[in-house]
Amino acid sequence: MTLMIEISNLLHSYPDGTPALNSVNLHIGRGEFVVIAGRNGSGKSSLVRHINALLLPSGGCVSVNGLCTSQKKHHPDIRRTVGMVFQNPDSQFVGMTAEEDVAFGPENLGLPPSEIRELVEMSLETLGISELRSHSPRSLSGGQKQKVAIAGVLAMEPECIIFDEVTSMLDPFSRKEVLDTVKRIHAKGTTVIYVTHRLEEAMNADRLVIMDSGRVVADASPRDVFLHHDLEKYGIELPPVVALSLMLSKAGFPDIGLALTKDELLEALCP
Ligand SMILES: Nc1ncnc2c1ncn2[C@@H]1O[C@H](COP(=O)(O)OP(=O)(O)O)[C@@H](O)[C@H]1O
Ligand SMILES: [Mg+2]
Repeated sequence: MTLMIEISNLLHSYPDGTPALNSVNLHIGRGEFVVIAGRNGSGKSSLVRHINALLLPSGGCVSVNGLCTSQKKHHPDIRRTVGMVFQNPDSQFVGMTAEEDVAFGPENLGLPPSEIRELVEMSLETLGISELRSHSPRSLSGGQKQKVAIAGVLAMEPECIIFDEVTSMLDPFSRKEVLDTVKRIHAKGTTVIYVTHRLEEAMNADRLVIMDSGRVVADASPRDVFLHHDLEKYGIELPPVVALSLMLSKAGFPDIGLALTKDELLEALCP
């Protein structure tokens, strides 16, 4: 796998002196689906903001496709390569209609109008919101707003998209829809970095990275992280299925092992 994002010994302190990241090392390959989880204040947002040069290192180094964020001349390339969707979709709108909003990014890239139209169509379609094109973003539901925000980033065709707690303000139904969209975007080849504090959203990830107090404390497949780390120590609640299967295993149920999904648990209990 080609290495895309390389973070070495990253340190970050905010201007008021708050230390946010401490010796973070993280490598992400092209096409990976990496989930970053950790309690509030553990440094997740600070870390991902370094990946598209919204924050710059106090120490150490972050590079994207070999371009180091500490050099300002690389910022346009880096920001084109790595798109970012935030928690609150209301803070991300610029257009009067969903369509205008989605077109804003490609317009700023200076693309020709025919290409912009194509990118907007493709993005609205991927998100399943073509019929919302002439609605005002502000009139939409939380889930629809978040889809417009994602479509706007997708329309710039970034190689990598960072999703920072994008489902945390949504109801369970919209949450699932948005997560399914993220999986679809990944399946089409985009590298995905998905920040969440809900581990049930991490089951399909290639890797699960856990942060605590500004450090990476675990970085492995979701299964290995659940098996080898005590996540409660890091203030993270285990998904109910995982907690139940670990409990049954410990209680001596034969052949349960670790189930990550309801189906796996059922299969283990009634083979
Ligand atoms: N703009 C800021 N100024 C000062 N401190 C900040 C700022 N943003 C975050 N922090 C602090 O940095 C630490 C990491 O925060 P953050 O990266 O937002 O964590 P998370 O996204 O995991 O909740 C916390 O102690 C937080 O209070
Ligand atoms: Mg955050």
